[in-house]
Amino acid sequence: MYSKELNTIKKANRYRSRRIFDKSLIDLASNDYLGLSQNKELFENAYKRVLEEEYNSPKASILVNGYNQIHKDFEDELKKANNFEDAIVVGSGFLANLSMIEALVRKGDLLFIDEEYHASGILASKLLAKNQVIIFKHNDYKDLKQKFETSTNKGRNIIAIEGVYSMQGDIASYEIFEFANKHNAILIVDEAHSSGVIGDNLLGIFDYYNITPQKNHIKMGTLGKAYGSYGAYILASSHIIEFLLNRAKAIIYTTAPSLFDIALGLESLKFIIKNKKEIKEKIALNLQIIYDNLNIKSNSLIIPIEIADNKKVISIQKELENSGFLVGAIRQPTVKNAIVRLIAKIDVKADELEKVCKILKELR
Ligand SMILES: Cc1ncc(COP(=O)(O)O)c(C=O)c1O
Repeated sequence: MYSKELNTIKKANRYRSRRIFDKSLIDLASNDYLGLSQNKELFENAYKRVLEEEYNSPKASILVNGYNQIHKDFEDELKKANNFEDAIVVGSGFLANLSMIEALVRKGDLLFIDEEYHASGILASKLLAKNQVIIFKHNDYKDLKQKFETSTNKGRNIIAIEGVYSMQGDIASYEIFEFANKHNAILIVDEAHSSGVIGDNLLGIFDYYNITPQKNHIKMGTLGKAYGSYGAYILASSHIIEFLLNRAKAIIYTTAPSLFDIALGLESLKFIIKNKKEIKEKIALNLQIIYDNLNIKSNSLIIPIEIADNKKVISIQKELENSGFLVGAIRQPTVKNAIVRLIAKIDVKADELEKVCKILKELR
């Protein structure tokens, strides 16, 4: 039924498939930045916490009776740590982006979205009227300013950016935060790849720039990456959270997040806060190794190595696999030009990271 389309994908070397990888491979491909997915103590604590409840599953939407003390405990801890007025747990980052964009951009409002915003946000923007969506050049504050100032909008303005961009690993420009405040625009920040990785307290981009959250700020974070679990959360003013609870379809019409995953997210949050000094030291060490060996300066643990050739990027990935390392081979449509996406995860030993960099340097 879809053979023609599949053949086109294959011809362009863009064909994808699932695989269960050899367990012995050293993982430099996943978003498990801090290696928490292997932390059995956190897992056991979360398991014990769920056992204290009478039931194991959330059973219903958060607005029926799916809301559990475990959800609330995590929200409370997130609010306190991040200095936001309110929080809400969401099933996944994909659903969180869908929730925010679909619900917050009302008739007469405009959405200004970075061209490299995650696919979930771009997909959500397609639910809006075409003339409500303005895509600005990646992380380009001047382009945003120019597009913003030439619009004749009388409604709300909503800007959507990421804290750390998922493919290039670059961080959101500070000017965009200043700009949003100056123009009283709502600023949505997807912190999927920044929370747990950057900032003095490892809380993400607000922490990195030392920005005190304001009423117009919204922070979304996911648990499937540095937090070693699954699920997501949105932090915002009480007013915005109240509105999302009453309007966001991807929050209302879906089962509340898994109790275990949220309990594990809470364990991870506490772990990160408690161990921030050691985690930051290891992040700094890994980034130094990357700089010394590949001459790439990065603020995040995402290291993109441009190859710009789909066939070559796959062959590099294979060669590295033969040497025992797993890296991402990212192609279009995820990125414009093919890249090797290397994640300098902190559970990877220094000598192993050095070795993979040396092989990459030769293959490039
Ligand atoms: C920037 C960004 N936002 C949102 C998501 C979606 O999050 P989730 O995997 O929790 O659905 C991802 C990736 O998965 C992401 O990279």
